Amino acid sequence: MKIVIRESADEASKIAAQHIVDKATPGMKLGVATGSSPLPLYKYLREARAEGTFSLRGSTAWALDEYVGIPADHEERYRNVLRRELVGDDRTGLFEEDLHTPDGLAENPHLAAAEYDREIGDGVDIQILGLGQNGHIGFNEPASSLSSRTHVDVLTKTTRQDNARFFDGNPDLVPSHCITQGLGTIMSAKDIIVVAFGETKARALKQLMEGGVSQRWPATVLQHHPSVTIFADKDAVSQLELLTYYRQISL
Ligand code: F6R
Repeated sequence: MKIVIRESADEASKIAAQHIVDKATPGMKLGVATGSSPLPLYKYLREARAEGTFSLRGSTAWALDEYVGIPADHEERYRNVLRRELVGDDRTGLFEEDLHTPDGLAENPHLAAAEYDREIGDGVDIQILGLGQNGHIGFNEPASSLSSRTHVDVLTKTTRQDNARFFDGNPDLVPSHCITQGLGTIMSAKDIIVVAFGETKARALKQLMEGGVSQRWPATVLQHHPSVTIFADKDAVSQLELLTYYRQISL
C-alpha cells in the first residue's frame, strides 16, 4: 500500500488527480465514487481537461453505488451528482451514455445489481474510493462479505446520519437501501486510490492500514490488493501508529 500525506485535502487531491492523469489510457474504465471526498479531485480532473492534459472522451465511468428508490430528478441521486461533476465537453469529455450507474429505480433492484456487476466485467482500470467513518467502501457496511459482488444493501444509521448533510440535515430523508458494488467487485479493479480527509476518517484509516482484515471494517480488504494508494490529509492520518514511517515513504 502506498500513501500520500499532505497538510490539506486540496493538496492531496491535486496529487491524486495527477496520479489518474498519469495512469489514464484511451478508452479506460474509471470507477468513480460520490460523497464529498472526491470533489476536489474531480475539480482537478476538470482543470486538466481544460488544459488539454486529460480527457475521458471514449472512456467509461462506473459509479460505485446508487440509492434505491431515489427519484430520477433528485439532486442527490448519484447519477445526477456524477453527471454534474464529470459529464460534458467542458467537464472531462465523458459522454452521458458512457456514465454507468446502478439502476436504483429498477423494479427488481437485485436483478439490476447482478446486471451491473456483469457489465463491469473483469473490473475497472482505476477505482476512486472514499472511506466511510465506519470503514465502509462503496456502501459495503460492516458485516459485508469480503468477496461480495454488486448487491442491494441496507445503510447503517451512522451512514444515514453522515449523509444527512445532503438531505436537508435529516437522516430520515436519506434512502435506507442502495445498490453497491461488492467488495469483490471493487477488488477486481486494477488500480485503486482512496481519498480520506479530516479527523472523522482517522479511525477508519487506522483500521484500513493497520487493523486486521475483517468484515467489521470492510475497507481492510484493500490490504489484499496489490495496487492501492491512499491520499490523505494530516487529520485523517492522526491515529496511525507508524505515522513517522509513513511520512518518510509518502510519495
Ligand atoms: C460514495 C460511497 C461512499 C463514500 C463514503 C465517504 O459513492 O460509496 O463509500 O465514499 O461514505 O463519503 P464522504 O466522502 O462524503 O465522506
